[in-house]
Formats: sequence, C-alpha cells, structure tokens
Amino acid sequence: MPQLHSRSEESSHPTSEPSPTIARAPGKIILSGEHFVVLGAPAVAMAINLYSQVHVVPKNGSGLSVTADIPLRFLAGKSGNPPDPGELLLPLQMAAEATLKQTGSIDHALQVDVECEIPVAAGLGSSASTTVAIISAVARSNGIEMSKKKIFQLGFVPENFLHGKPSGVDQAACIYGGMIQFSRPSNVKTVRLKKDPVLLVCDTGIHHMTRTLVGGVVQKSKKEKKDFQNYLAKVREISSGVARSLREGDDEDLGTLMNQNHELLRKIGVSHPKLDHLVEVARRAGALGAKLTGAGGGGCVIVLSPSRGVRDRIARVLRREGGTPYKISMDTGGVESRPA
Ligand code: PMV
Repeated sequence: MPQLHSRSEESSHPTSEPSPTIARAPGKIILSGEHFVVLGAPAVAMAINLYSQVHVVPKNGSGLSVTADIPLRFLAGKSGNPPDPGELLLPLQMAAEATLKQTGSIDHALQVDVECEIPVAAGLGSSASTTVAIISAVARSNGIEMSKKKIFQLGFVPENFLHGKPSGVDQAACIYGGMIQFSRPSNVKTVRLKKDPVLLVCDTGIHHMTRTLVGGVVQKSKKEKKDFQNYLAKVREISSGVARSLREGDDEDLGTLMNQNHELLRKIGVSHPKLDHLVEVARRAGALGAKLTGAGGGGCVIVLSPSRGVRDRIARVLRREGGTPYKISMDTGGVESRPA
C-alpha cells in the first residue's frame, strides 16, 4: 500500500534569510468512514475547491506574528459566546512554530497571514487546510520544499491540540488533493475516478466541536465493544465499496453506500435533527445518496446527484429548508507553495 511519500526534502537546505512565500491548500469532505477511521477503519475523502491561502514574509524584529481572516459565521467559542481570537490563532501559531523548529530556523522573524474561505467547524477541513498551508509556506520561506510525509507528521501538532485524537484523514486529504482512501496511521491510496461524482455540500449552520464529538464516540466504543465491532466491519465494507463504485463510476451503488453510512453515524449518535432533515429532503428531491460529513453534531451534509440539473434543483430545495448549499468540485492539486 503506498504510504505518504513524495519528493524528499533532502536536496533542500535552510536559508539564512527567509523569503516571501505563498501557499494554498484545499478543504475536504469525507464520503465514508468518519469517526470509525479514528478507531482503525478506512475512510474515503475528497479535497474540494474551497481554499485557505497563506502569505509568509520576513519581518523586522523577532518572533512570529500570525493573523487570520477566517469565516466565523455561526461559530461560538467554548462558553457559547463569540470565540476569543487568541483561541483561534493558537493552532495556527503552533503550526508555524513547529515548522520553524523542524527546519532549524527558529530564530527567523516572520509575518504569517492566513486567509480561509472554508467555513469553520463545519466538517470541511478548515483547520487541516490552514495547518498544511502554513507548514508548506513557512518551510518554503526558509528554503525547504517539505515532503508531503513530513507535512502530514507536523500537521498533528495543531490537529492534536484541536481535535484530541485525530486520525489524520483531514490533513491527508488537504495535502494530497483528489480522492483518497485513508487508514491510520498514514496509509493513503489515491482513488482513480471513472468520472467525477456530482456532489453538493449543504451547511446546516449549526457548528460543532470535533474534539467533543470524537471523544464521545471513542468512549462509546469502549462501552459498546460488540456493537462497535459490527459497525467497524460494516464501515470497512462501505469504504471499500465507495472506492470501488468511484473507480467504476457506479453512482447508484455509491449513493446507497452513502445512505448506509449515514445510518451508522446516526446509530452512534453524531447526527443532528437538522442533518437528518436535510438528508431526507435531498433524497426526496432526487439525490442518489446523502449523508452527514465530518464529525457531525451539525456541520454539513453531502449529497450525490445523478446530474448537474438535479443537483441545482436539490440545492434550491435545501436552501428553502434553511441550509446553505455549496456546489463544490474536486481539487486535484492538494497543498501547493511558491515564492511570492
Ligand atoms: O473535524 P471534522 O468535522 O472535519 O471531522 C474529522 C473526521 C473525524 O473522523 C470525525 C475525526 C478524525 O480525526 O478522523
């Protein structure tokens, strides 16, 4: 099974002076296996054409300055009040610091500006996307083209802080781009598509704490061992079926598997009445399949449509029902960086 490997960074060397750099990374959706991937099952994830972008420039003085322009709509902090900006900037700062340490450039003074168009806490990979874009940009600004494997490893520094026990599927999707099958600890297989699935993302507007949801499922899996063994076996079948139907372009099968995956996620208690409602509405409006994506508890649903025309109709219906639809497509490039 191919591992997370890519060009090695051995040929690059840290420079004495940092240079201006820009990087971008996509967001992601999970087609199957969220939550169960933390427990060892495979997941299938797709990078999407919503991006975060990072500019790094040398600055006077010392240390790191990080700014972020991120969509905070719907987002509440730990207390239920608007989030403290420091709370949001901390993981970004951690990603930049870990990269400076890794590249032997800890004394470099850098200004890191993050722009993110991916809704936060909606299951669309905003934190993984900003993290991998920062790592890639900071490394390149110090003259190092970091390998994808290394970006993946460093990505755990802020992701562990944010999510407690992340599987790594989010950062893998944002790093590699395209459609991947992922399993812990770092197995990534590209899924070659016969044709692009016509997918729609719809945001409930109710946003979640991934850490709490993931922790709850891990606890439950310890108490309900027998049930979880069955769920894990089912998810293994679902994820390999999803990968097969994508390779064969079998949308009927893909839709059925997405529906089955949603039922399992409901069973383990991570759905939400609004997610279930949007899933039902989408199916009645002609979807081949629909499910929640990501940690659940709010966030987004994804909907598979037989055609673009039907997708557009479903989007209108979902909007009337209070959802915010995004017509997304697949990103194929993953994280990219270049001199600014
Ligand atoms: O943070 P989210 O909502 O994109 O969810 C990540 C996917 C989970 O499987 C729930 C957690 C993980 O680390 O795999």
